[in-house]
Amino acid sequence: MINDFDAASGLSFFLYRSAARPDIGNGDLTRILSVARSRNKAAGLTGCLHHEDGLFFQWLEGPHAGLRPVIESILRDDRHHDVTVLNEGPLDVRRFEDWQMRFSDRDRKSLMDWFAAQSMSTVDRNEYAGGVVAFLQSIV
Ligand SMILES: Cc1cc2nc3c(=O)[nH]c(=O)nc-3n(C[C@H](O)[C@H](O)[C@H](O)COP(=O)(O)O)c2cc1C
Repeated sequence: MINDFDAASGLSFFLYRSAARPDIGNGDLTRILSVARSRNKAAGLTGCLHHEDGLFFQWLEGPHAGLRPVIESILRDDRHHDVTVLNEGPLDVRRFEDWQMRFSDRDRKSLMDWFAAQSMSTVDRNEYAGGVVAFLQSIV
């Protein structure tokens, strides 16, 4: 879907995994999502965040100019650490166009169980990143 944001500049995406601060609770998650959704809306960003076994997996997409400052904020946020960029680059079509930031956790669907069932490699970097995206897109 082409909207004003997308027409103004090309789309990019950013996919990472990070370790949540050990004492992160539901209150922290609620606050993270509340700020994320309003800021993403203003910047024309969409995506999803998955929390499982102390790890965050996040896919963010939108116009490059809007995406960059949000990524910088996320990278310096002390509510998580060890941010590993799994993939990033240009994007043709939004994958989560209906979501300012969808949230899921293992009660909804488990990434670890999903990987085990797919017999996909979690060692090969490209296959792992592709698996994470496929998993995130499989959550309905
Ligand atoms: C796991 C995680 C995911 C986040 N996702 C987003 C997001 O999608 N969009 C966003 O604006 N902020 C997100 N944040 C919050 C930012 O890190 C930051 O606190 C917020 O954007 C405010 O920016 P500032 O700290 O530079 O003022 C996230 C934080 C964490 C820990």
